[in-house]
Amino acid sequence: MTPQPRIGVVGATGAVGAVTMRLLRERGYERVRAFASARSAGGELDGGIVVEEATPEALAAGGLDVALFSVGTSASRELVPHAVEGGALVVDKSSAYRLEDGYPLVVPEVNGRRALEAVETTRVVANPNCCTIPLTCVLAPLHEAAGLRRVRVSTYQSVSGAGAQRMERLRNEAPADHDLGMDWSWDGDETDEESKLRAETRKILELPALPVSATTVRVPVMVGHAESVWLETEEPLSAAQAESLLAAAPSVRLVGVPTPGAAARTDDVLVGRIRPDRAADGNGLALFLACDNLNKGAALNALQIAELLVAGAPVAR
Ligand SMILES: NC(=O)c1ccc[n+]([C@@H]2O[C@H](COP(=O)([O-])OP(=O)(O)OC[C@H]3O[C@@H](n4cnc5c(N)ncnc54)[C@H](OP(=O)(O)O)[C@@H]3O)[C@@H](O)[C@H]2O)c1
Repeated sequence: MTPQPRIGVVGATGAVGAVTMRLLRERGYERVRAFASARSAGGELDGGIVVEEATPEALAAGGLDVALFSVGTSASRELVPHAVEGGALVVDKSSAYRLEDGYPLVVPEVNGRRALEAVETTRVVANPNCCTIPLTCVLAPLHEAAGLRRVRVSTYQSVSGAGAQRMERLRNEAPADHDLGMDWSWDGDETDEESKLRAETRKILELPALPVSATTVRVPVMVGHAESVWLETEEPLSAAQAESLLAAAPSVRLVGVPTPGAAARTDDVLVGRIRPDRAADGNGLALFLACDNLNKGAALNALQIAELLVAGAPVAR
């Protein structure tokens, strides 16, 4: 029997890392090590795994076949190269590598074949943004059937998308103080989340000129991101046709009203409210989707990439 891969979870104490550790446990992975900053080193996680400090030396020392990173962009830029030097294949969930040439940006259901390109080259696969993943799961089958001409999207993103500390802040906030936010960096007149959503969608769908206009909004919800999407296609596509395409799409589940609450702790992208876009000139559809940003929007997608890498390039010793 092939031994299991040796997996390092870097950022194991964070919002995404905790879900990654749970998924690994549920899937029966036993050769798992947990890494975080010096703040958490020495602490014990569920299952008795002791957290190690993610130093460059520790990661470069080898002993890992796969490293799943969820530490933030600057820490990824610093630490990922050391994990690669130590021989690991890396799946990185920050935006450090997503738009860099030579680094596949992968949603397994959409462009999984791209993951293996990294094995003999950069050894790093990038995991997309938590809104890009569900959006591309829904757009890909519609594009294949009718050709995408234009996409507009408005997001409703939960606080867990901003990490464990923001979740704690919402827990301690009075409901009367809840408000919407646009708490990303600004990139001209857009948030960087909006420009990421456009650039990542184009890269994954391999449509470099696709017009995408996004407005990203943080809402006082603990887990689960929702997106309102308006799309136009080259060929006519009725709401009923879109519904049957999406009913057959992997990791997509049709529901009446997709909400973050219904999506939380599920693996699927929930999609519904599929209807003609009454403001479009023609070939326009509107729909609504929701997805667990910590699970399929982050940890699960990355683990699925890791499983593609391990299957395609057996790494276990
Ligand atoms: N949250 C989401 O929905 C989501 C979705 C997709 C992608 N992502 C990306 O995933 C990454 C982590 O997000 P998160 O929400 O899990 O954040 P988080 O809850 O703030 O957790 C951050 C984790 O990174 C560790 N860390 C921070 N700086 C470090 C350093 N210099 N060296 C080693 N470990 C360090 C922290 O360790 P300590 O506990 O020791 O501080 C913690 O384990 C970000 O790049 C984020 O953009 C998040």
